[in-house]
Amino acid sequence: MKNIFVFALVSLIALSGCKQSKPEKTIENLKAGIKGETTASVKYAAFAQKARAEGSEAIAKLFEAASKAESIHAANHKKVLEELGEKMEDFKPEFDVKTTAENLQTAIDGETYEVSTMYPRFLADAKAEKVDKAVKSFTWAFDTEKKHQRFYTKALEALKTNTQNTLPTGYAICPVCGNTYDLANVDSKCAFCQTKKEKFVNI
Ligand SMILES: [Fe+2]
Ligand SMILES: [Fe+2]
Repeated sequence: MKNIFVFALVSLIALSGCKQSKPEKTIENLKAGIKGETTASVKYAAFAQKARAEGSEAIAKLFEAASKAESIHAANHKKVLEELGEKMEDFKPEFDVKTTAENLQTAIDGETYEVSTMYPRFLADAKAEKVDKAVKSFTWAFDTEKKHQRFYTKALEALKTNTQNTLPTGYAICPVCGNTYDLANVDSKCAFCQTKKEKFVNI
């Protein structure tokens, strides 16, 4: 009996020694990603109201579409974080609402930071720490933000040249990955996650 107890104790110690360490960088990155995506979602919703008040309906639609996409990214990151046994602490999104031209520039700057700096670093860390679910969630956001960056850049150009009638009149959002399409040019399946277009949310 004593031998069995000693064996169990030794096994337990050995097993706990083998236990994988936590992916610390990815956990921090998921938290920063949730904060960034949540803030972007709330901020873009406020920018949409401002654009509508200024009479820029097409730009209001773009902000609404991006707001929806960012909320999906935040939810996906949060799910991965919780699967890692971690929780997001409370925070308050902080931002300023200015003119629509300034708001578009703020949006372009935010998306540019995410695609050129933030997500490439998050992806490298998640790959190094072998957190496949985080790699997937970060990749979906990274690929979507590249499209947002292009949509916003065109919208600012149209605002400056008074050619807003050339902008998309609506958007389709993949509810799984946040992929954002011009409503007039939608794939039959999401190019990022293969969700069927019938499931897309139209804005
Ligand atoms: Fe975005
Ligand atoms: Fe998708």
